[in-house]
Amino acid sequence: MAKIWAGRTDGAVDVSADGFNSSLPFDKRLYRNDIKGSIAHAEMLGHTGIITEEEAAALTDGLSSILDDLDSGALEFDPAAEDIHSFVEQTLTERIGDVGKKLHTARSRNDQVALDLRMYLREKSDEISEAVRTLALTVTKRAEEYKAVIMPGYTHLQRAQPITFGHHLMAYVMMLLRDLDRLSDTRRRINVSPIGCCALAGTTYRTDRYFEAEKLGFEAVALNSVDGVSDRDFVIELISDISVIMMHLSRFSEEICLWSSFEFRFIELSDAFTTGSSIMPQKKNPDIAELVRGKTGRVYGDLLAVLTTMKGLPLAYNKDMQEDKEAVFDACDTVLKCLEVFNGMVGSMKALKDNMRKAASDGFINATDLADYLVGKGLPFRTAYKISGKIVAYAAENGKTLESLSPEEYKEFSPLFDDGVYAAVDLYNCVTRRISAGGTGVSSVEAQISYAKEVLEK
Ligand code: ARG
Repeated sequence: MAKIWAGRTDGAVDVSADGFNSSLPFDKRLYRNDIKGSIAHAEMLGHTGIITEEEAAALTDGLSSILDDLDSGALEFDPAAEDIHSFVEQTLTERIGDVGKKLHTARSRNDQVALDLRMYLREKSDEISEAVRTLALTVTKRAEEYKAVIMPGYTHLQRAQPITFGHHLMAYVMMLLRDLDRLSDTRRRINVSPIGCCALAGTTYRTDRYFEAEKLGFEAVALNSVDGVSDRDFVIELISDISVIMMHLSRFSEEICLWSSFEFRFIELSDAFTTGSSIMPQKKNPDIAELVRGKTGRVYGDLLAVLTTMKGLPLAYNKDMQEDKEAVFDACDTVLKCLEVFNGMVGSMKALKDNMRKAASDGFINATDLADYLVGKGLPFRTAYKISGKIVAYAAENGKTLESLSPEEYKEFSPLFDDGVYAAVDLYNCVTRRISAGGTGVSSVEAQISYAKEVLEK
């Protein structure tokens, strides 16, 4: 394929340089956006009288036929094309003749590539939002099922206080809700049209950028033509939103690996989402969770790649910016795959309630409640804390729990103790009493669940 820019030079490029330069192998996935963008451009050229309406119609018909043929597979990408933009333009001219050469009036590949990418990432951010929403709904449903299942809550990976499994799961839903919020915020900044910025300086033609932007569903147009073709913030923002989603999935994955280990045995993953070992027959490995955790590093790499590519670039367009695509495509593909499989894994895992409850019964995680009980009897918290600490040390030494100490043993530590202490350290009571806003009490978890459903079902 001859170069669209042959003129100043004869367009004959060294074979290795040509392959090195070409972005078609990866930007061909933008073909629908490229063609739809060109159709709107042709309509704008006709609407403003820059070309005749007949010429505009010839361009849009030709472009539509290319779109249909690429969709159906009747037309194949020519590997000799430099990028998706030149491929479409050259194919158009082959099909409709010289009028095809009018399409590129009042634009440049610099604004065109930014347009295509914004259109593509707008769709992707919607797809990712939908997948996050689906996962958040699944986790919410699981939380509802397990809203009264007691487990130990941890800090420093040490048993800390009893919580419910539902409450723990709802913590992830809150993260996913923030992820959705971030995505919608980023989408607003993606949805700004750069087309008409041309190479960098705008154009002498009487174009109508607002007409074109509106046709393509943009809410605004870039207000500075140099910025319009230089800006890749929207790419970085989207990968960074995706990185945060991956970080959340990765923490969840890490817990799933821990919980499904023989040491914890808090959950059992469905067979459909685990693998066995080729030599150890007892194994059921949480590969999906591990892979999601692993792929998080890869997405961070995508983010760093684009940040680093952009950091030293002078305005406006530089070819370095072609490197944005593989990174952002990889981040989008990866997060979508992770969200899908993660949803299946979480939707089918089973909580082993008895094991969770047993773990909550060991380790004195009701010691704070013991202290709070003494505070209720009139002691200052710091004093109550000290007495409770001594009781825990005593119980641990004598192989007892706070539930199994006798009233006499309690009275040795303070005359304030009466039989009410047993209700105070009962795990179920410990949990249900935590009704502070956002606390682990069942009614508070129910409030979180209805909030999440309301947001997610909107
Ligand atoms: N393939 C290029 C990219 O992905 C398109 C823009 C090329 N513009 C140019 N003046 N060479 O960034």
